[in-house]
Amino acid sequence: MDTFIAVMFSSEQQELYCLDCMGYFLMFMAACAFFALLFENVPYGRHASSKYGFPVNVKFAWFVQELPAFMVPLCLLLWTSSAKTSQLPNRLLIAMYLIHYVQRSLIYPFLIRGGKPTPVVSFALAFVFCVYNGYMQIRYLSHYAEYPTGWVTHPCFITGSALWLVGWLVNVHSDHILRTLRKPGETGYQIPRGGVFEYVSGANFLGEITEWAGFALAGCSVHSTSFAVFTLVVLASRAVAHHRWYINKYEDYPKSRKALIPFVF
Ligand SMILES: NC(=O)c1ccc[n+]([C@@H]2O[C@H](COP(=O)([O-])OP(=O)(O)OC[C@H]3O[C@@H](n4cnc5c(N)ncnc54)[C@H](OP(=O)(O)O)[C@@H]3O)[C@@H](O)[C@H]2O)c1
Repeated sequence: MDTFIAVMFSSEQQELYCLDCMGYFLMFMAACAFFALLFENVPYGRHASSKYGFPVNVKFAWFVQELPAFMVPLCLLLWTSSAKTSQLPNRLLIAMYLIHYVQRSLIYPFLIRGGKPTPVVSFALAFVFCVYNGYMQIRYLSHYAEYPTGWVTHPCFITGSALWLVGWLVNVHSDHILRTLRKPGETGYQIPRGGVFEYVSGANFLGEITEWAGFALAGCSVHSTSFAVFTLVVLASRAVAHHRWYINKYEDYPKSRKALIPFVF
């Protein structure tokens, strides 16, 4: 794989420059997505639409689209000269990323109950994003990122790691609550209760946004920040869309529950 990367880039400086450009480009895409999502919901799940192509089985879609987010990093770590993986901050940040994507790509898809098929365009875009982001995050952390001595005791790293952990736990717990609303074979919807759902309609999204904001704070790079910003844009839009949908569908929907930020929004 080192040979492949050497063919793609004439020097390490050039690859690092490309990785930085990828980070800025993802920020640009987040800005484009922000404006697009003012007019359209992210088209999958309850907001799926046939204008985004034929439906793909939901478990197959989640497994295949998320797999590169785990496999690309794994290949980079196993088969490239990952010069920085001996450094503790780099190791911990890579571990945060991998813990999330082992759950998301190898466990989450097989737990889904009665999920709506995913339109092929949404599926393809998610696949491309996972390849792109998997390479950008892990190549940067495994080969280029240099943190000052003692970075793991810096307030940014400690606060970021704590946010990452809390966000991950909220995300996994909230996805579990949603899953248990359906018995095997059911496909309908119910009002989610318990956990962070008592405060917001998008509890799983709030967890994931917090997680990657923490990762960005701990990693302090354009690469981790662009991922956090992109996640914020996509999932905030989804939380608002779900919240409106619940209010329209259920007359007894809890009045105090907000869309994404407890007590505020
Ligand atoms: N980092 C990122 O950019 C990013 C992007 C997208 C998703 N994600 C993460 O991926 C996970 C899944 O995302 P998602 O958008 O599919 O979440 P979602 O819309 O909340 O749906 C999650 C699952 O729960 C079911 N469900 C949702 N609300 C329900 C209800 N009220 N009653 C019964 N079942 C319900 C859905 O079924 P249906 O399919 O039938 O609606 C789906 O199978 C989340 O943890 C999210 O944070 C991350």
